Amino acid sequence: MRILVTGKNGQLGRSIHKLVNTDSKIDNNQSSNIFIFVGREELDFSSESSIAHYFDNNKFDIIINCAAYTQVDKAEKEPELVNQINHLAVKQLASIANKQQARLIHISTDYVFDGENNKPYIEADIPNPINIYGKTKLAGEKALKKAIPTNAIIIRTSWVYSEYGNNFVSTMLRLSKERNELNVVSDQIGSPTYATDLANAILEIIKNKEFSESDQTTQIYHYSNKGKVSWCDFAKEIFKIAKIDCEVKSITTEQYPTPAERPKCSLLNNKKIEKVFSIKQKDWKKSLQACLSCL
Ligand SMILES: NC(=O)c1ccc[n+]([C@@H]2O[C@H](COP(=O)([O-])OP(=O)(O)OC[C@H]3O[C@@H](n4cnc5c(N)ncnc54)[C@H](OP(=O)(O)O)[C@@H]3O)[C@@H](O)[C@H]2O)c1
Repeated sequence: MRILVTGKNGQLGRSIHKLVNTDSKIDNNQSSNIFIFVGREELDFSSESSIAHYFDNNKFDIIINCAAYTQVDKAEKEPELVNQINHLAVKQLASIANKQQARLIHISTDYVFDGENNKPYIEADIPNPINIYGKTKLAGEKALKKAIPTNAIIIRTSWVYSEYGNNFVSTMLRLSKERNELNVVSDQIGSPTYATDLANAILEIIKNKEFSESDQTTQIYHYSNKGKVSWCDFAKEIFKIAKIDCEVKSITTEQYPTPAERPKCSLLNNKKIEKVFSIKQKDWKKSLQACLSCL
């Protein structure tokens, strides 16, 4: 099978690449899979013609879409570009996948919800995004479901970090070198997700006959690490594991205004992905330890 992974330079794209053998082939039920990783140089989501042109010349059995506009605050200032990348490009990609009869795995976000729940969100909960990023990701989900009504899955994840690029963990580690004390918000709750765990879950899904062989209605699944934490306690745990002496002080969202509003509760219920694909959540503290040991 030919498997396309978009967003090759992002956290998830690089994590999938790490897990795939160096010769870009992994054994999958006795057959060989060829992975092709592309970045914006080869496939630019900001350009409809770039997307059309790329797929005129390339066909795939599976497409894993890890590309997205992910800068939540910057997104408030350039809504048209964010909409093109997170919504219109996803719609086009889904329609191409449908025509090519490729199966599609697309990644979405906890930020499609408003965060007013006091328990983990299930897939059937009504989304109500409160920032441009979340609104465009939700529009992408809806467009995808229309364009490819079968054989696609959307995985909503949350608070993704990794040993690659900029994320909360790398930011905390950098700031701890500059300051002895940090103020971090404690009234936003979520589940951090180590990109390697999500990458593993995606590779498990590809191997699963439920996904690769039978025709299924396009579905949404939630996947995050296990546990519930505030950004403040997440920061404390990073410094505890990394043995860094940096005091973390709890502040409220009101005391740390940002251009984009964030959901107060970002917890995702993972029961559906576990039931259908036997994918078990990993404990967030153990996964954080695994990530920090790679740095
Ligand atoms: N990060 C999080 O906390 C988080 C939380 C929930 C859901 N998600 C979702 O999870 C998925 C993976 O996120 P991530 O953390 O791996 O994001 P990331 O590290 O920001 O990677 C996103 C990738 O998309 C690429 N991209 C941006 N604009 C593009 C364009 N115009 N054309 C082609 N590629 C473009 C970027 O390319 P460059 O490297 O060239 O910029 C980057 O490699 C995304 O769908 C995201 O919405 C992320």
